[in-house]
Amino acid sequence: MLTLGIESSCDETAAAVVDGSKILSSLVATQHDVHERFGGVVPELASRRHMENIAPLVCGALEKAGVKLSDIGGVAATFAPGLVGSLLVGLSAAKGIAYAQNIPFIGVNHLEGHLNAAALESGEIPLPYIGLVVSGGHTSLYLVSGFGKYSLLGATRDDAAGEAFDKVAKLLELGYPGGPAIDKVSSKGNPKAFRFSKPNFHDDDTLDFSFSGVKTAVLLLHRDEAKKGKVGEKFTVDCAASFQNFVVNFLTERTIAAAKRHHAKAVVISGGVAANKKLREKIAEAAKDAGIPSYVPSMHLCTDNAAMIAYVGGRYLESGRRDALTLNAVANLEIG
Ligand code: KG4
Ligand code: ZN
Repeated sequence: MLTLGIESSCDETAAAVVDGSKILSSLVATQHDVHERFGGVVPELASRRHMENIAPLVCGALEKAGVKLSDIGGVAATFAPGLVGSLLVGLSAAKGIAYAQNIPFIGVNHLEGHLNAAALESGEIPLPYIGLVVSGGHTSLYLVSGFGKYSLLGATRDDAAGEAFDKVAKLLELGYPGGPAIDKVSSKGNPKAFRFSKPNFHDDDTLDFSFSGVKTAVLLLHRDEAKKGKVGEKFTVDCAASFQNFVVNFLTERTIAAAKRHHAKAVVISGGVAANKKLREKIAEAAKDAGIPSYVPSMHLCTDNAAMIAYVGGRYLESGRRDALTLNAVANLEIG
């Protein structure tokens, strides 16, 4: 069955057509030009840009896939979590198409999309596996024991890793979005120039994360260096590299600890931060050392896209699940 997927949870409008796990088309329209000067996503502007982009993107995805709307067997759209005004644009478009074409509709949780992105390229992943979803809004570890069977093992207690990347990049005046900017300049810096300490949770067993501490540490370091007149290019690249090193090590350590504790057969990472070069290398290395395979999706499947939504939606539709056209958008909704 051909599934049309629509994603509009944050600042990316995306549409895709998949046939099972085969991607026939996957288009993404970023809005970086809109939000860049604010240093973060402005919800109202995001919704308005989604409105402009949604129809051309859906038409473009159908055209690129070489199919007509009448060939589509079902429509899937992200309904949670995200910015409600943004979610509503994609969700309403999907419902309209389903109603007009008289085909089934299903809402997909964005996190479930990320968690299954690797399967689009790698097919079946050995079960159970540990999935790390690390993005601008989430940093969560799951034990995945089957499709739709997720247990949340740990999550950030404050900022998401991507949010920390964006805020540190803003402070270092590296531009927006911050993750790719830090990733790029870090190769020129010394990752050991500054040491940041891990949060103390008073609970040795926890698989939770916290990134507000390192964010504040970077802020204080920047302030002190600025007082000494030492904030120049060297400081910026060393600080970026040291911050990235801290985040990558923290994410990797927790992921591998979870894999060992739950005797996982594989490790999967996904979400925008999973596009980070160092994280991709480090996870692959650490998983190899632990004797388990790692699955790291291609960059375009790590960041927000509609192929992952179409894939997950398609699997549920194939199993007979459907949602009513009254399904609402939800800002916060965990899985597992
Ligand atoms: O999954 P995503 O596209 O959207 C959300 O669901 O949040 O993730 C966006 C986040 C942003 O915070 C962005 O700075 C971060 O992913 N990101 C990166 C990289 N590419 C995107 N962080 C670190 N390194 C990257 N290469
Ligand atoms: Zn995302």
